[in-house]
Amino acid sequence: MSVSITTESGMATVTIDNPPCNALNRAVREGLVRAVDAIEGDPGVEAVVLRCAGETFAAGADIGEFGQPLRTPHLPDVLHRIETCPKPWVAAIHGTALGGGLELAMACHLRVADRQARLGLPEVTLGLIPGAGGTVRLPRLVRAELAMDMAAGGKPIPAVMAQEAGLVDALADGDLLEQARRRAAQAARDSAWTATLARAVRQPDDRAALDARAAKIRARAGGQTSPGAAAAAIFNALDLPAEQALDAERATFLALRDDPQAEALRHVYLAERDTTRIDRLKNVAPRPCTSIAVIGGGTMGAGIAAAGLLAGLGVIMVERDTAAAEAGRARVAGILDGSRQRGVISDRQHAAMISAFRATAGYDVLDRADIVIEAVFEDMEVKKQVFRALDASTRPDAVLATNTSYLDVDEIACAVANPSRVLGLHFFSPAHIMKLLEIVVPAKVADDVLATGVALAGRLKKIAVFAGICDGFIANRIMSAYRRECEYMLEDGALPWEIDAAMTGFGLPMGMFQMQDLAGLDISWAMRKRQAATRDPAQRYVEIADKLCERGHFGRKTGRGWYLYENGTALPDPEVEALILSDSRRKGITRKAFSADEIMDRILRTMQSEGEKVLAEGIARNGADIDVVMVNAYGFPRWLGGPMFLAGRAGTTPA
Ligand code: NAI
Repeated sequence: MSVSITTESGMATVTIDNPPCNALNRAVREGLVRAVDAIEGDPGVEAVVLRCAGETFAAGADIGEFGQPLRTPHLPDVLHRIETCPKPWVAAIHGTALGGGLELAMACHLRVADRQARLGLPEVTLGLIPGAGGTVRLPRLVRAELAMDMAAGGKPIPAVMAQEAGLVDALADGDLLEQARRRAAQAARDSAWTATLARAVRQPDDRAALDARAAKIRARAGGQTSPGAAAAAIFNALDLPAEQALDAERATFLALRDDPQAEALRHVYLAERDTTRIDRLKNVAPRPCTSIAVIGGGTMGAGIAAAGLLAGLGVIMVERDTAAAEAGRARVAGILDGSRQRGVISDRQHAAMISAFRATAGYDVLDRADIVIEAVFEDMEVKKQVFRALDASTRPDAVLATNTSYLDVDEIACAVANPSRVLGLHFFSPAHIMKLLEIVVPAKVADDVLATGVALAGRLKKIAVFAGICDGFIANRIMSAYRRECEYMLEDGALPWEIDAAMTGFGLPMGMFQMQDLAGLDISWAMRKRQAATRDPAQRYVEIADKLCERGHFGRKTGRGWYLYENGTALPDPEVEALILSDSRRKGITRKAFSADEIMDRILRTMQSEGEKVLAEGIARNGADIDVVMVNAYGFPRWLGGPMFLAGRAGTTPA
């Protein structure tokens, strides 16, 4: 029974019990209607507490019902029944009240929340807006500005903030149910309760500022429509009578439900949830991973160390010498200071993190580390030396990981006596911010070592995707392929700024040439020089980037790269254009104009065809994993679902 009622001394307790997260599926909705019927028909009941069993309050709609025809009773009707019940309903909120769950709580007459609870309307992240009165009830409880942020931004807020804002009437520290019952009894006694919809809307202090806020939300959403729709729904709530605002909200919800963006966003959501659900790891317990060590304190080592500290882990950093250790320590301190300044961590947390961190020049401190992540120079001999040193200095059960971008992890694993404890953990830069972690799976890795990689990803709140071994794994390999394609287009007729404009117009956060200028052109130049001897001479090769580097154009840091930088602004560089035109001429290529669509068509097809190769070689498990990688590593527009999803939807066969 997913909804049950118990009654004692005039107090009914309605319990939703629908594991794992009390989703409001049809059975629950029917159960709630039956509960309202029973309570209305029972003169002995004076007040009601609505609670959920298990880990959390209702955390939303049942995602399994999305994409299916809607089935009665509909949530708005159920909530209407609760709100118009002549007896006070008090929601007792623990865990998270999200989406439909928060709409349910707002339809109750009062809300008591556990101090640790979180409340939010994350529908926009799935391409929707609340469909059961969320946007209409919320601005009757909280200031319009907060309602706008919650509905259009999708981020949940902590219970303490919800109470200060008026969304929650009381916080419970101890027995939530008991406090909710006391509150319900008091409400019944004093008749001190109101239907949320009967309250006046809390108009903004400054309407123009709210308009600006909504405009910012729309701009930030890029091509995604749901945040703008949610903002419009909040304005409806402010401007229209409740009934009309409810109707408009529902109409938008129903339209968005069938929108391709919602399907795409659902695809990415489910894909992200499933990346590590693999048979191989069923019932495999991870090894402990509370203390990590990072070898190398450069860009990546410092980012990984900071990620560990921010997740509450103890971190030891090992560098080549004392000066490098000090530089690494300073990099980590800089990241933590930045997090404190942005309010991500408190002063106390900052102090705790600094004391959980140590940077040193010796390997002799590594016997305490559960997991060691190597992030030294991208050079096979250096990495092998480091792994040999790790073999001698770590506990035999410690997990050893390499953050290599391109090198063969199987070969690195052979540097230790027991290669089953070696895996690849490929972070993205900046490592304390980027969500993706490629877990590179060598041939000899033990199951519980892989499980430890997954557990660490969980601790660091990263999305782990398994990748097989090849040059660049999933993300860098696909990116290298479409970078090549972009360079072909330069010779064929497009200019860097045209390609970049097409990419950002499509919804990518940065164009290919802007990205290279930011990263520095010298790094990939060094790699190309290393690979020159083994490059297939039959493969088309574009020399333009090499020529730029020969002229000292290394990107932003030198003021010139693909672009010319003046006071930090990137400008088209006539010299670069001349170089491109002359190279086309030299190769006898007749340049043709490219439209933005043609540029993106070539980029997408390349992403898709390289993705197909990655699948055929078993480097990625499935197309959904590739989509997760592209969305989280390169900012492929989430609302388009990823390149492989797009290929499937268009029914196109990659070139
Ligand atoms: P980096 O040059 O900024 O840092 C490397 C650090 O390793 C230096 O501080 C150096 O002193 C230290 N080091 C060198 N040999 C050492 C040894 N034997 N023992 C201890 N420390 C040693 O390089 P970055 O960018 O941090 O890259 C590190 C690794 O991460 C490379 O394998 C790279 O391919 C990979 N990577 C880099 C990404 C990036 O965006 N920079 C992204 C993902 C992976």
